[in-house]
Amino acid sequence: QQTTVAEQYRPQFHFSPKANWMNDPNGMVYLNGTYHLFFQYNPGGTTWGPMHWGHATSSDLIHWTEQPIALYPDSLGTIFSGSAVVDKDNTAGFGKNAIIAIFTHHNQKIEEAKTGLHQYQSIAYSTDEGKTWAKYKGNPVLPNPGIWDFRDPKVQWYEAGKKWLMTLATKDRITFYSSPNLKTWTKESEFGEKLGAHGGVWECPDLISLDYNGTKKWVLLVSINPGGPTSGSATQYFVGNFDGKTFVPDNTSTRWVDYGADDYAGVTFSNTGNRRIFIGWMTNWNYANVVPTKAWRSAMTIPRELKLKDVNGTLHLAAEPVSELAKITGPSASLENVTVNGDYDLSPQVSAFGGKYLLNIELANLEDITLHLSNAKGNEVLVGYDKASNTYYVDRTRSGDVGFEQSFARKTTAPRIAAGEGLSIKLLVDVASAEVFTDDGLSVLTNIFFPQEPLNQLHITSTGPLKLKKITYSGVKPSIR
Ligand code: FRU
Repeated sequence: QQTTVAEQYRPQFHFSPKANWMNDPNGMVYLNGTYHLFFQYNPGGTTWGPMHWGHATSSDLIHWTEQPIALYPDSLGTIFSGSAVVDKDNTAGFGKNAIIAIFTHHNQKIEEAKTGLHQYQSIAYSTDEGKTWAKYKGNPVLPNPGIWDFRDPKVQWYEAGKKWLMTLATKDRITFYSSPNLKTWTKESEFGEKLGAHGGVWECPDLISLDYNGTKKWVLLVSINPGGPTSGSATQYFVGNFDGKTFVPDNTSTRWVDYGADDYAGVTFSNTGNRRIFIGWMTNWNYANVVPTKAWRSAMTIPRELKLKDVNGTLHLAAEPVSELAKITGPSASLENVTVNGDYDLSPQVSAFGGKYLLNIELANLEDITLHLSNAKGNEVLVGYDKASNTYYVDRTRSGDVGFEQSFARKTTAPRIAAGEGLSIKLLVDVASAEVFTDDGLSVLTNIFFPQEPLNQLHITSTGPLKLKKITYSGVKPSIR
């Protein structure tokens, strides 16, 4: 039986922990019909503290059930971010199909000694599909070579070389390691010291293979804090090739997975075949510890499927909500071929959704458009496209409670990557967040907000005539248990 947790600001179809602090998604892995989401978790309070791996499971990426904590701190340290794999060939010797977690141990005592040796990589395994966990006796499996920031191992099986491959954040670059058994690791190469954004330390990387028209390409995700496109934490990406040893980018401009303020440390699930399913942490280190929720802090983004899209000869990363979202979206109504001048009020259509809905807009022309999400208290979030600067934006300056941190009340903007006439905006609203996927996921903006009551009014305005090809809207049912 489902129950909704009736707290102000509690997302109703995004994963959030019942109580206490959560940060990065960790160890996301699929096995035998179950998606496992582990996460950085402090069971002792609603702010960051001694890290554990919390755990939630789902059969469809949409309905999550929180499980007992999977990994607890031990004598080697607390449990920082990392990944998990299914060991199909029993390379590590813990059993066929064991789930093996590869994570960073963070040792505070050593940190205080300032030797820079306080982060090292360790493993733990589960032979009962994630229910119970044991740490490997030989930990750490990758000791620290003297690098202060040495963390967040993302491991995958590299079939072409028949070896495990670890992508590790090492201060201002990524270091690749490989292993036959997850227990001994050899350095392969480094990437990025002089490329991309460097306004903060590099964290939580992921190297993803994606098929593009029959060619295998590789995308490297690198989270960075601070130094994001607006302020604080964000995730950049590089598209290129990987030969088992070295990653070489095709394009060296700095590009962001999400131009909103609230999508950090996102990585993909392992063992999902050709699907690349991404989840990010839906907040920003600028204010994650002080947002005005009470029993818990923070939620995850909606799971997104990642793809590559070619725009004028350049491959770009595109992200859209997984198709499983359709399980909880209500009957969708639509309007077709209307031309709008001035103000078009959709409030009668969306008000019954209680601030939880999915809206799709397709425009035949490229014109300024603003969606005003608001409520009777005067709180509003603006989502739009600005023709003069060719950018999409989300402005939460007047979105309700914005006073808890100085960088919060602001507008975020994303370049429009797509080319050509017309545009599309997919907007996913869940009580305290808006995820905006434009032009089939080419420009994405995710932002959270804290309105006094749900944003159940919606107006569309424009300066010029808007040729609306189609608007579709549907309520989204709660999926939290
Ligand atoms: C990213 C991060 C990781 C680290 C974890 C600690 O948000 O700083 O680099 O492993 O959080 O909780």
